[in-house]
Amino acid sequence: MNATSSTPLDFIHRFVPAPGGDVAAASTVLLLHGTGGNEDDLLDLGRAIAPEANLLSPRGKISENGMPRFFRRLAEGIFDEADLIHRTHELSDFIAAAAKHYGFSPDSITALGYSNGANIAASTLLLRPGVLSGAILLRAMVPLTPESLPKLEGTRVFLSSGLGDPILPISNARTLARMLQDAGAELTFRELPTGHQLTSTDVDGARAWFNQTPT
Ligand code: MLT
Repeated sequence: MNATSSTPLDFIHRFVPAPGGDVAAASTVLLLHGTGGNEDDLLDLGRAIAPEANLLSPRGKISENGMPRFFRRLAEGIFDEADLIHRTHELSDFIAAAAKHYGFSPDSITALGYSNGANIAASTLLLRPGVLSGAILLRAMVPLTPESLPKLEGTRVFLSSGLGDPILPISNARTLARMLQDAGAELTFRELPTGHQLTSTDVDGARAWFNQTPT
């Protein structure tokens, strides 16, 4: 399904119902692309990781020289915090509106984000706890430091980072991991001998984590 409707479903997005057809009973995976991506990018990855889930895939509203993103940045790794906060709430409101519109449960939504998409997913965990019941953060960093940490007990998070990532340094990913753990999230943190690009190890790890099967 494709929709370009106005507020509140005001993100260009795709919604792919669970293959079993029972949208209300299935869990939902929220796909969040990286800089320069779009709503089609992660559909195959989402289906590979979550074969039975609904997929909701918005396109980031910011254009950086024509490249879609989920929030503005001032430079690589330096974010426009006011915009990030605004965009995080806007995305959270869209998720709630999409749940009503398509009839999926708002209580079982796992984000699957890559790079810029992983960063807004992390921001959603920190600023809007309860919107996501879980998150797969592929190449994320600390998006912002909230005034106080949210309570993330019961929220499952899979964070997969590259030891040689030049864009999202591993030291920063480790700080995010600590922040999520301090907030009470049930964290699985993988440090992989790779860079910014995803590898099959990321995908296999995320699939096993999502389906709670051993790697
Ligand atoms: C961001 O801007 O979110 C990060 O620097 C990753 C990216 O390049 O998108």
